[in-house]
Amino acid sequence: MTRTATPRHYLMCRPTYFEVSYEINPWMDTAIETDAAVAVRQWEALRDAYLAWGHTVEYIDPIPGLPDMVYAANGATVVDGLVYSAKFRHPERQPEGPAYQKWFADAGFVTHTAEQVNEGEGDMLVVGDVILAGTGFRTDRAAHRELAELSGREVVTLELVNPHFYHLDTALTVLDADPAHPLIAYHPEAFSPASQAVLAERYPDAIHVAASEAAHLGLNAVSDGLHVVVAPRATGFAEQLRERGFEPHPVDTTELLKGGGGAKCCTLEIRR
Ligand code: ARG
Repeated sequence: MTRTATPRHYLMCRPTYFEVSYEINPWMDTAIETDAAVAVRQWEALRDAYLAWGHTVEYIDPIPGLPDMVYAANGATVVDGLVYSAKFRHPERQPEGPAYQKWFADAGFVTHTAEQVNEGEGDMLVVGDVILAGTGFRTDRAAHRELAELSGREVVTLELVNPHFYHLDTALTVLDADPAHPLIAYHPEAFSPASQAVLAERYPDAIHVAASEAAHLGLNAVSDGLHVVVAPRATGFAEQLRERGFEPHPVDTTELLKGGGGAKCCTLEIRR
């Protein structure tokens, strides 16, 4: 099938204050040295790829003491122009919720303050008409219901079972969000048997990604419908993407991986 890119609108946060000063996922190790300058260079390469493809990128100012703010995907869920705020599970990240919400309010969006614990687009992924929603480590199921009521969309709960895949966007990538032909890629073993069955039934033509590719967060990829930013080590996944007509573009995000995130984590999509 012929793939086409559609213009995207992203929000990103420069990792000026990047470090690993606490551990809230298995990737984070405060004993490992980090280099904010390297993180910034990798982040700029990611941003430059989006700009080269003609996408719009907006920026939220980083706040000292909030090193995980670079993972903008967690900052909110924006669907049909409606902003559902994030409410973080861990105290270390809790101030990020209001910070991102304020950015959207200042930009003129109507924002809704979440009552339920949820980590934004890290766990809420829009595919066609539905929203796939992760739970198990961060986002509460009650947040799935809250978002369903707010958005009027069907929200499909998926249970994550492996702590290395603690957010939905670490185990599942939306490659084509067009309601006419939605396509996802995912690592089945990251999900409970019941959720694997849900995914198999809804997305029979999905790309199944092996453990070797999903490790190092190979599935934390960003697709505009044609170009797909992937981790350079996920060569097998890149090959699967080519077979389906996509153009994989490796972008090195290894420094950002020290915090447990990749390209998708650094990218919040604004859907008007
Ligand atoms: N250190 C961050 C955390 O554990 C990483 C978040 C990654 N973001 C994502 N969308 N998966 O919360």
